[in-house]
Amino acid sequence: MQSGEKNRVYNNIINQLRSILESNRDRIVAMVTINAVIKSNLPYVYWVGFYRDVDGKLLVGPYQGTLGCLEIPYGKGVCGTSFKNGKALLVNNTHEFEGHIACDVNSKSEIVIPYYNSSKLISGVLDVDSDQLNAFCTTDLKNLEIILEFVSCNG
Ligand code: SME
Repeated sequence: MQSGEKNRVYNNIINQLRSILESNRDRIVAMVTINAVIKSNLPYVYWVGFYRDVDGKLLVGPYQGTLGCLEIPYGKGVCGTSFKNGKALLVNNTHEFEGHIACDVNSKSEIVIPYYNSSKLISGVLDVDSDQLNAFCTTDLKNLEIILEFVSCNG
């Protein structure tokens, strides 16, 4: 999907989320709604979900897709690395990322972005996976960061 088309779809996603989540401040409600709206609007996404900081390791949270890894150690895989460094990671080819954790063999590219609590401390990461190579770009990053504010402001 071209960047212009992606922006159009993301604008639609963000508007939907704004109106759905306006009257609800619950973090789990925000997470499950984000997953559903992303999965049903972005055809290149086959897995989307949250990993939560529980005592320094990542435990799976709400997600949509095939069975996800239940637990990811600190600093391991794409998710654990993003969590450790507090930085988003855009991986064009998961097979070239050393230490990539393959919960599903179909994962070919992914983007992982931290989210925060209301005190601005990292509370986990959003993981979005594709079965296509090079599926994600800075347009996804920019828009997913906006989307994660629905979670971060409810933490
Ligand atoms: N690929 C991730 C693991 C999570 S699953 O893909 C759902 C990683 O390397 O951190």
